[in-house]
Amino acid sequence: MKMKPTKIAPSILAYDLGNLRGAVEIANKGGADLIHLDVIDGHFAPNITFGAGTIRALRRSSRLKFEAHLMIDNPRPYVHDYAEAGADTLVFQTEVLDPASFDALFAVARSYDKQVGLALKPETDLPKWVEERLGRLTTILILTVNPGFSGQKMDVNQFPKIERISKIVQERGYETDVEVDGGVDAQNIDEVAKRGVNCFVAGAGVYAQPDPVQAIADLRANADAARGGD
Ligand code: DX5
Ligand code: ZN
Repeated sequence: MKMKPTKIAPSILAYDLGNLRGAVEIANKGGADLIHLDVIDGHFAPNITFGAGTIRALRRSSRLKFEAHLMIDNPRPYVHDYAEAGADTLVFQTEVLDPASFDALFAVARSYDKQVGLALKPETDLPKWVEERLGRLTTILILTVNPGFSGQKMDVNQFPKIERISKIVQERGYETDVEVDGGVDAQNIDEVAKRGVNCFVAGAGVYAQPDPVQAIADLRANADAARGGD
């Protein structure tokens, strides 16, 4: 089977929050595939970041796909806002949903022609209802840190879960990206890539590096080397 492309998704939360446009420009210049936007409401996770207005303002600074990672307790009233703000993929947290509420969100997102993903906190195993819907997701995002802040260390205890999910996606031939978010850098990206991941979020792994544009290229090169070609 054809290998999925490697995708690098800089998380702008790790940059100077007073200059998010600068973060987007670095991602453009570095040839990133996605811009990862961490929306946190202070309830689902202990931080308050930015919302749809910020995403809308950044939208005109990039042609890259925008991925909104919605770490919010109650996404239903806000889906329209994020869709209209110009996010291309809406990633919801599994923990705040059940099958019925997910199906409703999915329908709204699709009505805007948006892609949908689901994220799993470190303590969350892949629920049956998510497994049943994996093929409809653009991405399944596995958090390797507790949500809230950039710059934490990757939790390697997530590796067996990552392998299990990658295997399901691969065996069933789904197009779904397998994405890892939390503590990814050029030194450890190979460990994740070897476990079937093709999409890599990196906050500090890009923006806390001496040359963030180069860091994007390094992440990609190291991931590609670990994944091998066909
Ligand atoms: C955690 C966020 C991550 C975070 C990643 O709440 O979902 O996207 O910003 O940053 P790093 O790569 O620095 O862990
Ligand atoms: Zn994230």
